[in-house]
Amino acid sequence: MITDEIKKKIRAIVGPENVLDSDLERFSYSYDSSFLPLLPANKPEIVVRPLTTEEVAKIMAVAYEYEIPVTPRGAASGRTGGSVPLQGGISLSLDRMTRIVELDEKNMMVTAEAGVRTIDLYNHCAARGLFYPPDPASWKFSTIGGNVAENAGGMRAVKYGVTSDYVMGLDVVLADGTVLQTGGKAIKNVTGYDLKSLFTGSEGTLGIITKALLRLIPMPKRRGTLQVMFGSLDDGCATIHQMLQAGIVPAAAEIMDRFCLDTAARHSRIDLNPAAASCLIIEIDGEDDGALATQAKQIEAVAKKCGSIAFRAAGSEEESEELWAIRRGLSSAVAALAPNRLGEDISVPRDAFPEVVRRIRAISEKYGLTIAVYGHAGDGNLHPSVLCDLGNPEEAKRVHQAVDEIFAAALAVGGTLSGEHGIGITKRLYIAQALGEAGMRTLKAVKQALDPKGILNPGKIW
Ligand code: LAC
Ligand code: ZN
Repeated sequence: MITDEIKKKIRAIVGPENVLDSDLERFSYSYDSSFLPLLPANKPEIVVRPLTTEEVAKIMAVAYEYEIPVTPRGAASGRTGGSVPLQGGISLSLDRMTRIVELDEKNMMVTAEAGVRTIDLYNHCAARGLFYPPDPASWKFSTIGGNVAENAGGMRAVKYGVTSDYVMGLDVVLADGTVLQTGGKAIKNVTGYDLKSLFTGSEGTLGIITKALLRLIPMPKRRGTLQVMFGSLDDGCATIHQMLQAGIVPAAAEIMDRFCLDTAARHSRIDLNPAAASCLIIEIDGEDDGALATQAKQIEAVAKKCGSIAFRAAGSEEESEELWAIRRGLSSAVAALAPNRLGEDISVPRDAFPEVVRRIRAISEKYGLTIAVYGHAGDGNLHPSVLCDLGNPEEAKRVHQAVDEIFAAALAVGGTLSGEHGIGITKRLYIAQALGEAGMRTLKAVKQALDPKGILNPGKIW
């Protein structure tokens, strides 16, 4: 319970205008992009919007003293409920911390506060010929703090990796308000445990990330987009697999099934081949047009061998943009088609990708459910989306059985239950199965050591 006296202390830290407590404001901070039911119980008692790490530290000191739950929040674009305040308390919104503190061109690194939007960081660096590759589908509104806290992936992970591959250092406010600065600009660093990696992907349960030092690479000089259609989902999967086997590594390689194609066609101009059962959208990049043309030819040859029925290279940057916008908007477009959508995020070894897609098709048929299949085929990260009506008890039962089987299928082929969205609320029931007893014990020991009072994003992960 946050008393008037505590509120007064917090207002004194951030200024009264940065503490929100009206019913409507609290409601606005009670949900994220995970399509979880809206519950009045998830309203925070207050929303606090600090501007600096020091202010965050002072807020945490108060929260620690009075044992107030704190749920950090970036842009609330998360898919697993990470920023939903399950136990009331403080919703700690980092949206005012939007400074790009330094672009160090000599060391090719950038320092940004947690509330900087991913796309703004990308553009800031790109203007200097530097490339920050992680590009979650939400990059136009998601923030760096949230990306680090969730270890966000994205389209370009197939060639360039995920957020954690770029984190060099972090400023983190610990549960009691202590500020920890970890990592730095030295490329090699084995001084002590790798704490920056521990906090990356910790989903706000171990500390509040307020600033990140991120590694950059030179911006590729040329980019192109390819669209390839297939008469079956299997052929699309086979193409990805054979392309990677042949050593052709595109920047991004995304797959969509026919259901996704039809969904995309409702919202955008898309060249739909009536016989297409799947589509790949591939980004290639390189030093010059010649390099791009060679890659495109190699990919076209592999696709043909696997039975492609249409192959097209985007003719302009606008056309590329349009294709990627379709892909980035797909998750929300699919979710809008049914009362409920359970969007999964399984991730499997690359060579198991075709197999897991086949298993999901079989699960869809077995339970008579629509499961839209799309995802980051190039790195083995798939988002099967079960479209359903959970208000119908009979259907809800089938849905939960199907989801159980999807996770079981991912684990059976050596994969895991989340590639880039984290555990949050929605995957809590399954984490023990994925990590095993020793894994869970170790995770809990870390949590206990860093958050002894259990105030940091309580109710998440387990
Ligand atoms: C995507 C998000 C849901 O890939 O991760 O569209
Ligand atoms: Zn994704």
